[in-house]
Amino acid sequence: MNTTSLDILIAEDDVGHATAVRRSLENTYPDAAITVVTSIREYREYIARSIPSIAILDLNLSDGRTIDLLSAPAVDATFPIIIMTSCGSEQVAADAIKRGALDYMVKSPDTFATIGAMVTGALREWHLLQDKKQMELQLKESQARIIQQEKMASIGQLAAGVAHEINNPMGYITSNMNSLWKYAEKLAQFIENQGQALEMCADEATKASIFEMKRQIKLDFILKDFRDLITESLEGSKRVSKIVQDLKSFSRAEGDYPIPANLNDYIQSTINVVRNEIKYVAQLSMQLGDIPPVICRPQQISQVVMNLLINAAHSISDKGMITVATMTSGEMVEISVVDTGCGISPENMEKIFEPFFTTKEAGKGTGLGLAISADIVRKHGGELLVKSTIGSGTTFTVRLPIEGTR
Ligand SMILES: Nc1ncnc2c1ncn2[C@@H]1O[C@H](COP(=O)(O)OP(=O)(O)O)[C@@H](O)[C@H]1O
Ligand SMILES: [Mg+2]
Repeated sequence: MNTTSLDILIAEDDVGHATAVRRSLENTYPDAAITVVTSIREYREYIARSIPSIAILDLNLSDGRTIDLLSAPAVDATFPIIIMTSCGSEQVAADAIKRGALDYMVKSPDTFATIGAMVTGALREWHLLQDKKQMELQLKESQARIIQQEKMASIGQLAAGVAHEINNPMGYITSNMNSLWKYAEKLAQFIENQGQALEMCADEATKASIFEMKRQIKLDFILKDFRDLITESLEGSKRVSKIVQDLKSFSRAEGDYPIPANLNDYIQSTINVVRNEIKYVAQLSMQLGDIPPVICRPQQISQVVMNLLINAAHSISDKGMITVATMTSGEMVEISVVDTGCGISPENMEKIFEPFFTTKEAGKGTGLGLAISADIVRKHGGELLVKSTIGSGTTFTVRLPIEGTR
């Protein structure tokens, strides 16, 4: 145990007892910094400034009972505490243990002499408790991670199934809509020509009855509206197809093989694809650095960059700036996408990588972009980092191992 950095705090208002405890501790721990306080007030002032390695507290001080400072369980305290009592108050001392003290001693010349050993024991127990706590925390974290992975895997399967089921009907809905459009155009043309022919050769009574029928079925309105209806439906099917496409890539089985890829080239062509989405809201700056080929599945990395770029564009409501940069950092290559958009609130920050989490209106966001991206980057043995300030912008950084996953 490193005793040089030991800070021992004694709270004792009896000068004789305080001196006895201090002397005894100085014998065991000659290098420790020992502080004596004589009241609850001073004690509070001390721990507001610094955390002692251990505190030895007399049960009763002039301005209150130290037992009231404890809060169980001992393992959750910020430092270990030993309570000292006078002879006859052992019951209270036992209470103190229940309330979170690590140990207690009944004051006497004999116990003063052995307080060093007691402190050593208490510190050892404290460290064991802290290690155990740490291990429990790690266990909880890894359980949470496994649950999250399971969740992602089952959502992936679900998504693949749904995408497959929707894809086929969407195909014929879109193709039928296109045919309908052509047929309806022809019908409209035919009705118009027929109308003109009737106008020329039909008798007045027939013309009047046809005119009345036209009026009743609101033919003029129908002829105008069918185009809007079909355009809207085609727009709707395009949206559904986009969702299906996202779902498919989310659940995509490992397809393409890792190859050494010049990511700057891939980023350049990705930018070409999304430039239209970006140009109305932001100026694009590229700072593509001198990076080595990275062993990766480049289409997947392009998809990540595309998701980040589109998110960046969506985050900007007026005019802003998006910067894409690449650089080498040790064994990794970094791709960062920086925007001057709305930023992400701390509450949302916890959820943005969850599948289907979106703050966007229906049709604009599926909430899958970041979940897919994080998954792709993780499978590449890399990490996807985010930093954001509300109102001033967000930086996403993709870090990929140059040598790929081993
Ligand atoms: N660059 C960004 N700036 C601000 N918010 C962002 C940014 N990128 C992602 N977000 C937030 O994270 C959410 C999830 O993003 P994503 O998974 O791509 O789904 P989607 O874009 O479909 O909403 C977005 O709805 C948005 O709230
Ligand atoms: Mg997105």
